[in-house]
Amino acid sequence: MPRHRFELNGQPVSVDVPDEMPLLWVLRDVLQLTGTKYGCGIMQCGACTVHLDGEPTRTCRLPVAEAAGRRVTTIEGLAGDSLHAVQRAWIAEQVPQCGYCQSGQIMSAAALLRRARRPSGAQVEAALAGHICRCGTYARIRRAVARAADALAVAPAWTDEDAGAEDG
Ligand code: FES
Ligand code: FES
Repeated sequence: MPRHRFELNGQPVSVDVPDEMPLLWVLRDVLQLTGTKYGCGIMQCGACTVHLDGEPTRTCRLPVAEAAGRRVTTIEGLAGDSLHAVQRAWIAEQVPQCGYCQSGQIMSAAALLRRARRPSGAQVEAALAGHICRCGTYARIRRAVARAADALAVAPAWTDEDAGAEDG
């Protein structure tokens, strides 16, 4: 079976799985990182979103071979020892209901705030477009993104604590 090597949450990993196995299966079933969720399996809901070289990427149909040599960050590795600013805002706004969609939502929000510390409403909508929440937490998600942006705006710099440990 082919061996696939990539960086996962800052650590090198190697897995012996078929080329076409979706990265989501590798993360959840082979590497036991179950924070990333399976929702639709057809790239339509966003539950399976991780960062691939820092970009939010859906993994339910992404062959593991496409991750070879790249940086994969999951919700488990988004922050260092503490929580990411987005995670803190999510808690403050009490966003999750069942929680199923939330790791994907958080990964996309964190990537947005890395690109744009003061995102416009249109940027927020674009970043979170296609993330489906069957519990209807959309309004709280928008409030949490704004709260995280406020927190980051007064931060002196992107630090591990404020911005996550992911990729500087
Ligand atoms: S599980 Fe991947 S987009 Fe829905
Ligand atoms: S919190 Fe339940 S699906 Fe979003």
